[in-house]
Parts: sequence; structure tokens; C-alpha cells
Amino acid sequence: MLLMKLEVKKYYTLLVRPVVVITTISEDGKVNAAPFSFNTPISFSPPLYGFACNPEHDTWVNVKKTGEFVVNIAGKNLGEYMHILETDFPYGVNELEKAGLNKMPAKTVKPPRVKEALAWIECRFESYHKIGDHIWVVGKVSEVEVKDEFWKDVVDVGNVLCHIGGEFFAQNMELAKYKRVR
Ligand SMILES: Cc1cc2nc3c(=O)[nH]c(=O)nc-3n(C[C@H](O)[C@H](O)[C@H](O)COP(=O)(O)O)c2cc1C
Repeated sequence: MLLMKLEVKKYYTLLVRPVVVITTISEDGKVNAAPFSFNTPISFSPPLYGFACNPEHDTWVNVKKTGEFVVNIAGKNLGEYMHILETDFPYGVNELEKAGLNKMPAKTVKPPRVKEALAWIECRFESYHKIGDHIWVVGKVSEVEVKDEFWKDVVDVGNVLCHIGGEFFAQNMELAKYKRVR
């Protein structure tokens, strides 16, 4: 058996992760949007969601200041926009406008939804934990909606966008269902 040794700091490239675009607002209402993939559900009850954010990011500044965010579930339709959305524009610049993407109102929080996303998880900031070189941001889920066309009893995995690292993404996944014996 031949083995490939990876640099330990590249461990995350073995973990394929769904891409989300997190939208926040500044105190004066300016919209910010940025892609994240170090993210996961944490708790069913209460429903808690977490993502790892570099402390320098405008997203973290806004979450601390205004306490709300929307997790926009990215489909493969957003793949081509990643390089614009991840650009480090000055604080206050709306990346959605730069990318030519549209916003629409969220139902329970002030930051907008990204209209082109497949689904949305609206969150209120719950807590944070400084872990390594990132901030683990925890939000309590206040609303969840998915576009009907992307709901096939579960999320339509054929359209979901995942990140591996750098310019490498994964898409066009197939749904699998394995019997559970209880
Ligand atoms: C697909 C993708 C996933 C990313 N995931 C993360 C992440 O999980 N955590 C993070 O801190 N930055 C992540 N980034 C980088 C940020 O999106 C990027 O630095 C962005 O400019 C931050 O924007 P902000 O300063 O407006 O918050 C990711 C970028 C891409 C393209």
C-alpha cells in the first residue's frame, strides 16, 4: 500500500465542507457578504450553528457589533462568484453588489439573504470561543427556509457547492440512502 503524507496544516483538505455565504450588517446598516466553509451544525435543541472566522474578517466585526447573521447555502450556481465574494474589500463595501448578486429581506434578522442561494439559515449571535487562529462563532437559529426546487425530501445535493481548499471545490454529488437497523 503506497501512502501519501500531507503537511499537517493541510489536514482540512481531506474534509470536504459545504460552502455558505454569510451576510451581516455594520452598525450603520452596510451589508457584508463572505464565503465560509469551516462550518457545521452544533446542537439540535437549542438549534445552534457554528463557523470558524478569522478575527480580522469584517464578518466577525459585524457579528460582534450587530449580533445577527444569515447563512446562505451556496449552490454550484455561486461557484464562479467565490473569487469576488472572498476579495478583501475595505470595511463597508458590499460584496454582493461587487459580484452582481441580489439581496432579499430575511424573515427574523436584519442582514439580508442572498437571493441566489439555495437555502437560508438565519441566526442570532450566541457566543464565541477563540480557538487557534480563528474565532468559533456560535449562532442560535431563528428561521430556516429552502427553495422548493432544491428540496427533495432532503437538500438537493446535486446542486450543493462544497470546498476542498484554495481553488478546489466539489459539486454534482449524488444522494445515497443506507438502511438503518434500530
Ligand atoms: C470557499 C471559501 C471558503 C472560505 N472559508 C473560510 C472560513 O471558513 N473561515 C474564514 O475565516 N475565511 C474563509 N474564507 C475566506 C473569507 O471568505 C475571505 O477572507 C473574505 O474576504 C472575508 O470577508 P470579510 O472580511 O468581508 O468577512 C473562505 C473563502 C472561500 C472562497
